[in-house]
Amino acid sequence: MKIKKAIIPIAGKGTRFLPATKEIAKEIIPIINVPMIHYVVQEAVDAGIEQIIFVTSSGKFSVEDYFDRNQELEAFLERNNKTKELELIKKIGSMVDVTAVRQKEQLGLGHAVLMAKSMIGHEPFAVLLGDDIVINHQPAIKQLMDVSLSNQGAAVIGVMEVPQEDTSKYGIVKGERINPKTLKMNGMVEKPKPHEAPTNLATPGRYILTPEIFEILEKIPRGAGNEYQLTDAINVLCQQKNVFAYQFEGERFDTGNIHGYLDATIDFALKDPETREKFITSLQYRIKKYGISL
Ligand code: UTP
Repeated sequence: MKIKKAIIPIAGKGTRFLPATKEIAKEIIPIINVPMIHYVVQEAVDAGIEQIIFVTSSGKFSVEDYFDRNQELEAFLERNNKTKELELIKKIGSMVDVTAVRQKEQLGLGHAVLMAKSMIGHEPFAVLLGDDIVINHQPAIKQLMDVSLSNQGAAVIGVMEVPQEDTSKYGIVKGERINPKTLKMNGMVEKPKPHEAPTNLATPGRYILTPEIFEILEKIPRGAGNEYQLTDAINVLCQQKNVFAYQFEGERFDTGNIHGYLDATIDFALKDPETREKFITSLQYRIKKYGISL
């Protein structure tokens, strides 16, 4: 069964990005001139997703508007013969069908996903975190969709290897390896100490889930941080159905924290021929200015 819908929760408080996130969602903060959410939606669109359901919170500039047409801006660009910019703006406005549901209280990622229940129906669906960017020629979420498709539409959790000493920062999966990149999961452990971690495979924010997850999310108690955790629901799902973990290919940037955000910015500036040369000159100058020895 083709996976057509993706949930992207963007209702978090984004406290690590205050004060910017006082009035805007973290996901609208740009890496150079492109909002981080653009990369995540592009990944979903490239994977064949036809509808995006944003889970949003009140009082913040709407991410839906970014993916809508802006007639006034388009007319201005047309009048001023800014053809390249006009094409870019039009393309973003017609990228994909976008809907939004509200999460009225920020009760955790599991709760955010539950808010989109009525939009999903009875089919497997994708979940992408809007503050995790994965760069790869084949979209990471497409790789998970393919694994789901070849396993009767089962849930598939995207995983990546992390250094053993870092397992305590992540949700870590456990299970049996069925091929070099796939595990049949029997659960997840939240932030295990390195010597207690069952694997070094962490879950950075790409999921294919099945609708049973909603019933589970409705029943589970609050978990870590007094929030409804998606991890806890996946743990229950593993006891009921086949759930796989797949080590996807791609470079992942955790743009939800300042370090990962800077890392992405530097990488993108160096990758783009339009910014590379001046950026390197600027870096060299500033390294000297601050007396930094490399
Ligand atoms: P994070 O914990 O990384 O985001 O949640 P946050 O809470 O916004 O950030 P900090 O920790 O305060 O800086 C991962 C994703 O889940 C969404 C966030 O928007 C983010 O994309 N989320 C989290 C929700 O939509 N609702 C929630 O209640 C919690």
